[in-house]
Parts: sequence; C-alpha cells; structure tokens
Amino acid sequence: MKKKVRFGLVGCGRISKRHILSIKRNPCAELVAICDIDKEKLKRTQREYNIKEAYTKFEDLINDKAIDVINICTPSGIHPQMVIESIKKGKHVLCEKPLSLNYLEGVKAADISKKKNRHLFVCFQNRYNEPIVYLKEVLKNGGLGKILVITATVRWYRDDAYYSDWHGSRDMGGGILFNQAVHYVDMLLYLMNKKPKSVFCERKTLGHNIKIDDAAVVSIIFQDNSIGLIEASTLSYPKNMEGSITLQCEKGTVKIGGEALNEIIYWEGKNKPTRAIGSKIENVYGESHSKVIENIVNVLLKKSRPFCSGKESLKVIELIEKAYESSIKSKRLLLK
Ligand SMILES: NC(=O)c1ccc[n+]([C@@H]2O[C@H](COP(=O)([O-])OP(=O)(O)OC[C@H]3O[C@@H](n4cnc5c(N)ncnc54)[C@H](O)[C@@H]3O)[C@@H](O)[C@H]2O)c1
Repeated sequence: MKKKVRFGLVGCGRISKRHILSIKRNPCAELVAICDIDKEKLKRTQREYNIKEAYTKFEDLINDKAIDVINICTPSGIHPQMVIESIKKGKHVLCEKPLSLNYLEGVKAADISKKKNRHLFVCFQNRYNEPIVYLKEVLKNGGLGKILVITATVRWYRDDAYYSDWHGSRDMGGGILFNQAVHYVDMLLYLMNKKPKSVFCERKTLGHNIKIDDAAVVSIIFQDNSIGLIEASTLSYPKNMEGSITLQCEKGTVKIGGEALNEIIYWEGKNKPTRAIGSKIENVYGESHSKVIENIVNVLLKKSRPFCSGKESLKVIELIEKAYESSIKSKRLLLK
C-alpha cells in the first residue's frame, strides 16, 4: 500500500472543515484524530466525518504516535504555544494564519522547527489561487515590469456578535490587520517580493464596541521606493464588499478580487491571460486548502519544497507589528 501522511487536527471550528475535507479528498493523506476542548463540537465533528480518535486534551493529540502532522485551527493567540509543543513531540505542523500575534513568538516557533528539523507550514492558501499563480509567474519573468504601487483593499462587514468571542480580543484575535487583512498583507508582500523600508499606519475602532481596531490604513515604502497601500475594515455594512489586490506596474495594471482573490477584475497592458483564469467563489476562505495539504504531502513523501514556511510568514508579522507600533507612536517607522 502507498504510504500516507497522517494528520491530527486541533480546533473543530469554522475553518476546520476546509482542512478535514482537503485531507479526506487526498489519497495520500489520512485524518487520524481531532481535538477540541468543546466536547459537543468534538463528538459532532467525529461523527460527521467518521474520524477514528477524538481528544479533549491537546496533550493527548500530540502524544498520539500515529500522527505525522498537527493542523492548528484554534484561535490565533494560542498558535505559537501549540506549534512549539507539537514540534517538541516530533510532529510537523500546519498552522492556520497568522503564525503568531507578535514577532518574537513567531521567531521562537520558526526557530524550533529549524532546530528540531520539523516542517512548519503556514496556511496562506490564497497563494495557490489560479489568478495569483499566473500573476506571480508573469511578475517573476518581468512581464509587467516593476511594480510601482500595490494596494490591498479589505472592505468586509462583521457584526457585534462576531466580535463577542476571541475575535474581539487583542491577545487572541489581534485586530483588523492580524485577523481579517492578514491574507491580503501576505499577498501584497508575496507579489511585491521586495523588502519594506518603512511603514506608517493609522488604526481606529469605529463601528463596534470592542477593545481592538476595526479599521486601518497603512502606507509602506519599499527599498526601491515603490509604494504599498493597505485599506482594511470590517465596516462595510451590511456585507463584505471587496477583498482585492491591485498592482500598478510599468507595463500594466491588474486587479485581482472576488470573494477570496479568485477573480481577475481587470488586466490591462502586457501579458493578459489568453484563456479564462479563476472562477467565482461564494466564500471568503476560497478553495485552496486542498493545495496546501497537497504541498505538505509532497514535501513529506516526495521531498518537494514547502510553499509557505513559518520563517517566510514572519515577514507578514514583522510588518503588521511595526505598523501597529507606528500607529501608537503616530510616526513613520523604519524596518530592519
Ligand atoms: N485560512 C483562512 O482563510 C482562515 C479562515 C478563517 C479562520 N482562519 C484561522 O483559523 C483559526 C480558527 O478560526 P475559526 O474561525 O475556525 O475559529 P472558531 O472559533 O470557529 O474555532 C476554534 C476552535 O478551537 C477550539 N479551541 C479553543 N481553544 C482550544 C484549545 N486550547 N484546545 C483545543 N481546542 C481549542 C474552540 O473550541 C473552537 O472549536 C484562527 O487562527 C483563524 O485566524 C483561517
């Protein structure tokens, strides 16, 4: 029989279904166990997906010898601690976004994965979306020239109920940039592929009774003096209106949007795709978690390269952390 990569998942909430279905659909992957502190949710998930083991204690999950990879789908503030404990038990890890809500904790997690020779993957699944893969290749080959201005726009709506759990907490959710906009911040840096030189940010809490921000604007200057802009909020009453990334380049202007960066909104100038690329998708998670699982399987069974490692995802955390510091100091700050 073909060897399979064996997964164990912690956190049976909203995003877990994407992981579970992606593992179940991959012939080289197997979901061995799940874990949640909420017993009812745990049992329901176990029944629904016919999963062998179900643990209420994380410790039991990471001590399960039948597991190769731990999928971390818990509130963001617990990610680094769970990553570190899993790696110490010899597991590889797929951590949901973001790896951490502060840079130093993220560094600790990435360092231990290196030291213990265990892979740490971070779930930025939108990088696999067809329009993004195409655009990245064109940029790599110089097909649009230099990016002059790159803009990430997140105009989403979240009601007060959404913020009543961990999403409303600085220590667990982190605010607009760490939580809702993080995929778009990652995409901006991923497509730009240059080091940010400085950042200025303003953040506000405008539409919810919460202690974290629900709106932010950020300007970034890159080493080559090109500009990055982020505008993000959860204030687009009554529904999500836009999540997009727009590039103004020397040889063309491109906007990718849709619910989860799945659609080309416009592509003017050079190297416009000659066939239809991307599709309309009805949810903000997109459909690329299956590609993340496929990459892990390929890395562990066939020695492919990890698509997004913990170390790589630190760039995003470093930028957001500096942006937050800039908003507190009301000052443009330099990055190292
Ligand atoms: N990649 C994406 O597009 C995407 C989308 C949504 C959420 N996420 C990320 O996924 C993570 C989870 O988000 P969600 O929306 O599924 O949250 P959720 O609140 O729906 O689910 C979290 C689950 O974790 C469980 N949990 C909490 N503490 C635990 C512990 N100590 N041990 C075991 N279980 C514990 C909770 O009981 C809950 O079932 C977050 O980090 C979020 O940022 C990623």
